Amino acid sequence: MIYSKIIGTGSYLPAKVLTNYDLEKIVDTSHDWIVSRSGIVERHIAADDELTSDLALQASRKAIAAAGISADEIDLVIVATTSPDQLFPSTACILQDKLGIKSRGPAFDIQAVCGGFVYALNTADMYIKGGQAKTALVVGAEVLSRMLDWSDRTTCVLFGDGAGAVILSASDKPGIAASKLHADGSHRDMLKAEGNIRNGEVDGDPFIKMDGQAVFKFAVKVLSDVVDELLEEKGMSGSEINWLVPHQANIRIIEATSKKIGLSMDNVIVTVANHGNTSAASIPLALDTAVRDGRIQAGQNILIEAVGGGFTWGAVLIKW
Ligand code: UT7
Repeated sequence: MIYSKIIGTGSYLPAKVLTNYDLEKIVDTSHDWIVSRSGIVERHIAADDELTSDLALQASRKAIAAAGISADEIDLVIVATTSPDQLFPSTACILQDKLGIKSRGPAFDIQAVCGGFVYALNTADMYIKGGQAKTALVVGAEVLSRMLDWSDRTTCVLFGDGAGAVILSASDKPGIAASKLHADGSHRDMLKAEGNIRNGEVDGDPFIKMDGQAVFKFAVKVLSDVVDELLEEKGMSGSEINWLVPHQANIRIIEATSKKIGLSMDNVIVTVANHGNTSAASIPLALDTAVRDGRIQAGQNILIEAVGGGFTWGAVLIKW
């Protein structure tokens, strides 16, 4: 039996930090409101000349170094992003080139908004289990700051830029133990950026629009449901999870979901304060933090879960 195992992680946050106090000068908001409603203290903003692939490159180099492999061993590149460098080619193809990867395995983007990393990890797992890849680079990378309306306080205080990456390798031991993914496009209006390109111009509103309260309720319900579904399938209880690494959108969503699945916050990795909602990048950012600070250890049960525009949602159980 072939399994896929995460053998290295890396992450990158742009140097420029935007605090809640900085935002007080831009929109009618306050540090206290943002912290109490979302848990976010600061976010990072890409430099003008930094692209999503540049953030992905930095995170990938760290993951490759941590895995102790050469970039040429990578035979699959998947980038989960909602803020690609350009309409095409994919950010994954651009990243493959920037890393100088000589193998000509597949490289493609996954667009599942904040659910993107969970989708990408599951896809890479399928490639490896199916024998079509041996060493996959799976990245979540976003420059969301360019999709924000900086006069809309209901969105601009919540999001940030960043990237996280993992190297997934074929192994005879688990590994990724189980995954569950879902989508329901009928809820697509709750969170969207509708704009498109027509005749060389932006057609429609390109900025992120969100019905925050509706997303909040939906998120807590589907995240706890999908975790229950996964645990039931594996015959496990919440208490057997060593670390929950949730999508980092809002501390209140994380707390409510953890409570519903019966997990203490002592077993939850939380990094949202330092980078806000970085969409597809948030889980690999949090994973890398907890791997590097030693909380995540070999043999532990790690559960990741995410929900995002689409709507898409899912969870992956990993034996580290
Ligand atoms: O990855 C998935 C993507 N998104 C999410 O996970 C976000 C999900 N939703 C949320 O995180 C929360 O709903 C928010 C953080 C967006 C908002 O928190 P809330 O507790 O649901 O607040 P609310 O929308 O009910 O707004 C409460 C009040 C309103 O004023 P009134 O009507 O009570 O007078 C808002 O106008 O807060 C006001 N408000 C703000 N005040 C200061 C909204 N945004 C701000 C702001 N600063 N930035």
